Amino acid sequence: MPHDMDGVLHWHEPTRGERAGFGKFGQPQSDYDKFMEADGIPVFRGIGVSKVQDLPLVDWPRMGGRGSYIQLHGTEGKWGNYVVEVPAAGALNVEKHLYEEIYLVVEGRGSTEVWLEEGGPKHVFEWQTGSLFSIPVNAYHRIVNATNAPALLLGGTTAPNLMNLIGDANFIFDCPYAFTSRFSPDGDFYKPNEDLEPDPIRGLAMRRTNLVPDVMNCELPLDNRRSPGYRRVEPFMTGNKFYLWLGQHETGKYSKAHAHTSAAVLVCVKGAGYTYTWPEECGVNPWKDGHADRVERVDYEPVGLVSAAPGGARWYHQHFNTSAEPFRLSAWFGPNHPSLVTGLPPGEKQIDYTAMDVTEGGTAIPYWMEDPYLREEFEATIAKSGAKSRMDPALYEKPDDQ
Ligand SMILES: [Fe+2]
Repeated sequence: MPHDMDGVLHWHEPTRGERAGFGKFGQPQSDYDKFMEADGIPVFRGIGVSKVQDLPLVDWPRMGGRGSYIQLHGTEGKWGNYVVEVPAAGALNVEKHLYEEIYLVVEGRGSTEVWLEEGGPKHVFEWQTGSLFSIPVNAYHRIVNATNAPALLLGGTTAPNLMNLIGDANFIFDCPYAFTSRFSPDGDFYKPNEDLEPDPIRGLAMRRTNLVPDVMNCELPLDNRRSPGYRRVEPFMTGNKFYLWLGQHETGKYSKAHAHTSAAVLVCVKGAGYTYTWPEECGVNPWKDGHADRVERVDYEPVGLVSAAPGGARWYHQHFNTSAEPFRLSAWFGPNHPSLVTGLPPGEKQIDYTAMDVTEGGTAIPYWMEDPYLREEFEATIAKSGAKSRMDPALYEKPDDQ
């Protein structure tokens, strides 16, 4: 057992019946945790945030604005998240780094300059509230706000992944390699692209675009996987490993619950409502079965966040829109595509399990099987805001073949 003698730690073999090591210890700080701490701004940790606009904004000398880090439970080491304010009539510092970075504009207007090498061709594009854009790996970029009001951006990065692996921030911020495969000098590099194609893994709707001018109002194709009438697209941006999608539930409808492991954070961009999340081991009816104390809830409006699986292991999560408009959300995963975290060899047969019902071998809970508390509460809550449930009552009837 190690022990402290004269202020010096010693180690010797355990005696009979003892085990080596401390036995109990705190979760260590990762390199990325140390990096966040060194930046000297707050780190918000929790299951969700009702509205990122309410997070404290503290002077952030490294970035040249003000901000807060966000590390929702379950995302530790999986990807990085923060809000940054770009000062009115100002700009953030020029930077480049080996990690990927995407931005959602929470409020404000401005522009971004992106270039791969000193003196090389420079892209400049404009953004506004609701714009989503990506910075290619190791490209120089400068975020500019020429207006007389501050702008607030939500950033998502693969910084934890890189930092925890490499352990040297200087290499990450000062690497001369030019990733020409992630950048193009072509004038249309930041031209929004609305064309759809199937994503190469699951065949879901994908759009290759490095800029989405308005995530709140852009066209979304029908998907039907989460609720009747559900729409969804995956923007594939600057060759990133960072995986994300945009989705929308119809007014008066709510999603089916489904379970998977952590990484995904849902970003509410339109509508308002709440999410329930609970460990898979509590089953499909956590209220009925006496596990209500294990269910977590986050209420949000734009731009709110919730960790889909805050416990790390598989958690169910279910989203309820109580506003009188469609419910639009984005989900950010970092470099953790749901199909790459299964631990299976290439080519092994996979199923779209989060979109398939538990009765089909998936993890989605069909409406007829869900905890009755959910429907009652949803109908009562939505009635208060003058809206009405548009869920088809037939969805709650057990099919004859079950
Ligand atoms: Fe999910």
